[in-house]
Amino acid sequence: MKNFYITTAIDYANGSPHLGHAYEKVLTDVIARYKKLTGHKVHFLTGLDEHGQKVQQSAKAAGIEPVKLCDEQAEKFLGMCKLLNVSNDDYIRTSQPRHIKVVRQILQRLFDEGQIYKAEYKGFYSARQEQFLQEKDKVDGAWPEIFGTVTEITESNYFFKLSRHQDWLVDYIKSHEDFIFPRFRAKQVLEFLKEPLNDLCISRPKDRLEWGIPLPFDENYVTYVWFDALVNYISAVGYGTEDFEKNWPADYHVIGKDILVPPHSVYWPIMLHAIGCPLPKSLLVHGWWLSKGEKMSKSLGNIVNPLDLVERFGADPFRYFLMREMNVGQDSDFSFDLFLSRYTSDLGNDLGNLLSRLLNMVHKYRGGVLPAPKVDEDFEKSLRASALEAVKETLALYEGMQFHLGLDKTFGFIRNINKYAEQRAPWKLAKGEDKNSQDLLDTALFHMAEALRIASVLIAPIMPSVSERILNLLGHSGLEVFEGNTLWDNRLEGKLLGEKEILFPRPVMEGEDAKK
Ligand code: MSP
Repeated sequence: MKNFYITTAIDYANGSPHLGHAYEKVLTDVIARYKKLTGHKVHFLTGLDEHGQKVQQSAKAAGIEPVKLCDEQAEKFLGMCKLLNVSNDDYIRTSQPRHIKVVRQILQRLFDEGQIYKAEYKGFYSARQEQFLQEKDKVDGAWPEIFGTVTEITESNYFFKLSRHQDWLVDYIKSHEDFIFPRFRAKQVLEFLKEPLNDLCISRPKDRLEWGIPLPFDENYVTYVWFDALVNYISAVGYGTEDFEKNWPADYHVIGKDILVPPHSVYWPIMLHAIGCPLPKSLLVHGWWLSKGEKMSKSLGNIVNPLDLVERFGADPFRYFLMREMNVGQDSDFSFDLFLSRYTSDLGNDLGNLLSRLLNMVHKYRGGVLPAPKVDEDFEKSLRASALEAVKETLALYEGMQFHLGLDKTFGFIRNINKYAEQRAPWKLAKGEDKNSQDLLDTALFHMAEALRIASVLIAPIMPSVSERILNLLGHSGLEVFEGNTLWDNRLEGKLLGEKEILFPRPVMEGEDAKK
């Protein structure tokens, strides 16, 4: 059976990992884990985009070789993945021989087939964006700030015949509803494709850029960064070998909205079509994390460093926040106060307290062993109905990438478990020595535990460590798949539960004494 193959964009090697990079990895990881839990074999790829002028310049300024700089950057970006509990199976770097080989192979083939040609180019060039510009890129008659200094140059370059595939691409997008998710993004692509496409300049002269993949048919040039970077999705899974079909076509390329048009929705499908390779099944386009309504950027000084939060609060609360606050496809504003409020109310009060309260009572009243339920009244029936509904709706919402709503549903269920605890008030029942009170106490403890077990199964793709920890404390071993584990049953009966544990300690705020 073919693997479920999912990829992220590969991060630029210049710059440091930030919230945007972290979000994309976490989102992809959540989907990968969700798919595993629904019984798929998953292959998850992420990596680093290393070539280009900016890396060359930074390396020069630091007095080191570009590859050395990229080694350091790869360590940083990979370190972020580990810290975030991201379960990628592979990490591709575009300076690796396995990648370079495939890029050159594809270029040679397209050149041999006459799909790449050489021509003289005279026009405007932005060194900052490493891209040729046209008059239509001007805004109010001037080059926008993002292009930096724009100069007019004349040079010979190699061009890929994009334009001949334009009609095919328009038809493809129109006839493949699932190709771009969310659907409204496809409209933007079709809008872009209303204008005739220019052929794509896929080379840069070596005297201007050395840090790139040399063209196989003309070593005086290196490959344009996008033509190089996009190929990672197939070079990493053995394009040209027998293994390729184990993974390709990819099920999802997870990318940000800024790199949909034109690289992923125009260049990439046409490149694949031109070499007779099937297209990925879907581009999953997420929005941006903003800071006070603006895109995070170095120059605005509003970059959120995810690693600070993760070090302070742990990976899972951070993952929970990202998935709870962002409606996949839309933008979302990051604020520390919002993070803190989710941490203290959803995680600390609703989930964490439920666990510690339950463990505490089972040890205090039943020597740590979870009793069997003895009665089944309206409170129990309604809790079980709430569990059933949470499972059904949460999984359906996850399936449709609505993780924020799925979590909302599950945490609504968690609040219902707390409500049930208040209704039964086991701490009061414990005081009654009659059989009825003791039976109700057994019943209440069991129902709280079983409901919490099911909630912990549901949060597994988003908070894998927290989920595993709670399940272990409830005497439940690891979780391989959802199936069977989301059903209400008696498996916890008679289990020895772990000692009381605080999963989400109250944060010590600046100015407070940590020892207090
Ligand atoms: N190297 C290219 C991608 C090549 S893929 C063949 C690139 N790199 S990047 O480092 O600039 O961005 C990596 C990913 O992070 C992109 O999908 C981008 O959209 C995403 N994000 C960067 N900033 C972001 C936010 N502020 N919010 C959410 N994601 C954003 O583009």
